Amino acid sequence: MKAYEIVGADGIDALALSDRPTAQPGPGEVLVRMRANSINFRDLSMILDPVPRGIPFPRIPNSDGAGEVVAVGTGVTEWKTGDRVAGTFFRNWDSGGITAAIMASALGGATEGVLAEEVILPERGLVAIPDYMSYEAATLPCAALTAWRSLVEEGKLRAGETVLLLGTGGVSIFALQIAKMHGATVIQTSGSDEKISRIKSMGADHTINYRSNPDWQDAVLDLTDGVGVDHVVEVGGGGTLARSAASVRVGGHIALIGILTTDRIDPTVLMRKSVRMTGIYVGSRQMFKSMLTAFEAHETRPVIDRTFPFENAKDAYHLMEKTGHFGKITISL
Ligand SMILES: NC(=O)c1ccc[n+]([C@@H]2O[C@H](COP(=O)([O-])OP(=O)(O)OC[C@H]3O[C@@H](n4cnc5c(N)ncnc54)[C@H](OP(=O)(O)O)[C@@H]3O)[C@@H](O)[C@H]2O)c1
Repeated sequence: MKAYEIVGADGIDALALSDRPTAQPGPGEVLVRMRANSINFRDLSMILDPVPRGIPFPRIPNSDGAGEVVAVGTGVTEWKTGDRVAGTFFRNWDSGGITAAIMASALGGATEGVLAEEVILPERGLVAIPDYMSYEAATLPCAALTAWRSLVEEGKLRAGETVLLLGTGGVSIFALQIAKMHGATVIQTSGSDEKISRIKSMGADHTINYRSNPDWQDAVLDLTDGVGVDHVVEVGGGGTLARSAASVRVGGHIALIGILTTDRIDPTVLMRKSVRMTGIYVGSRQMFKSMLTAFEAHETRPVIDRTFPFENAKDAYHLMEKTGHFGKITISL
């Protein structure tokens, strides 16, 4: 079976397409014929910068995939041949809180990823794809669940609250869908006017171009009568956190997610405003199932910018590197 491999630190074009032997699932394991992957900024980072991330070579990239069960190992009760499934981001996070051992089970980083025709996953490393969804469910394990956990599991989002979203990538577009599903008011930034018109058509209530308006936190405060927002889904990192802290209300919540930009911030404002900050690392299988229940009720579909065939998978990462996309980028297998 064919699989892409990170074989060194020479970037996207150095990804190798290799032949690996077809493996059989062991006890408690399931063999999935992958039909789709989606890529995340994190997958791109693993390829561009594998050494500081401790990636051993060769390593199959990507955390997010969906496909069809083609074989099950002994003792597997939850799945049968033909089931349509999506993997979970962590091989071993069914429920409860995160631990170091769970962190060490992340796909496409600490363990082998899913950009391969066949992947073996643990029985509890899978969720069922709802009937209304295609293998587009490959978009859900990381970006959607991170947005869901940020706003719903940790943020306890309530109707009428105000949510600040940064940019129009995978996490932020799912966060827009989840926030509107819960009756929230959304303020969303983007560096592109064309993308701003698209988020408006999806229901973003207020939009700000962070390139033409670099002090966007002032616009956020104006839009909230000087109070600030209840929630920030902070995908930017060090370079945006100070502005996010200025934008959040006293006692508000910042879900700390991203590493798109780097800088340092003075933490005093976070203390003075009694901000609740939650470090987010995706989420558990139980959180994933809760999200799917909500998505099914609303027939929520992912926003997919482009889909690349497996043989052109490298083009998917090049598109993400240029931030040319809106929502998700997928690879079909
Ligand atoms: N902690 C976790 O569990 C977790 C999970 C998922 C993702 N993440 C992190 O979250 C971040 C987003 O991931 P993603 O997969 O959604 O990325 P993505 O699809 O590549 O989206 C990135 C988007 O962010 C916007 N952006 C870039 N620089 C920005 C800036 N300086 N200020 C505001 N917006 C900016 C751009 O939107 P516009 O083109 O509209 O400007 C860009 O398209 C990454 O840092 C990723 O590592 C963390």
